[in-house]
Amino acid sequence: MKSSPPVPSVRSQPVPARWRREVERVLISEKQIARRIREMSVEIERDFDGREMVVISLLNGTVMFQADLIRHLSLPLRLDFMGVSSYGLGTDSGELIFTKELRLDVRGRDVLLVDDILDTGRTLAKVLARLRPLKPRRIKTCVLLDKAARRVESIEADYVGFRIPDFFVVGYGLDFAEKYRNLPFVGVLYPHVYKLACKRVVNGNGNNKARHKTTRGK
Ligand code: PRP
Repeated sequence: MKSSPPVPSVRSQPVPARWRREVERVLISEKQIARRIREMSVEIERDFDGREMVVISLLNGTVMFQADLIRHLSLPLRLDFMGVSSYGLGTDSGELIFTKELRLDVRGRDVLLVDDILDTGRTLAKVLARLRPLKPRRIKTCVLLDKAARRVESIEADYVGFRIPDFFVVGYGLDFAEKYRNLPFVGVLYPHVYKLACKRVVNGNGNNKARHKTTRGK
């Protein structure tokens, strides 16, 4: 039976001094992430046992998650990446563009598609639509975070690390305007940080990425 994804506790954990001006609180600690990834890897190993899997990781946000996940998978696997990014105009309908295509042949293979966060669901929906015509045997989806409150597409992931409320989260691969990916934990960004960036965009000093990101939060 699958373990149900935990909801992070509302009890705040101390933010490391270096990040205290930008990060309001730690939502999921390094330890909690590590423990949950071990649990997820057990479920995945059981489901993919006896199959040769292809892990497809979506750039860039999965940089930490996929590295930690696959080191716990004792199965024969091949790893590939797809680049997909939202470059919108400050609305939720930001266009998704593919920045890197798949190189491995997935025909007849068991695919594990890995992403850092399932938010509106547009990214996973678009990637799945791109993968299905390549005729994999099956595709299972795996995300570290699930922010169901923001869902637009009718899509759920097969493996979910944590179900989180609609907070503006960064860290452990997740960025805001390409920053904060290196935080070892998932933290909640102070509104003044992303609101300031939003203002810069309105004044013409921001980039498209920041525009999109300012729509993704509480
Ligand atoms: C982020 C994240 C997911 C996607 C989820 O990617 O990494 O792939 O958004 O959002 P959705 O469910 O609303 O589509 P982003 O385009 O910001 O690129 P990144 O991975 O480089 O941060």
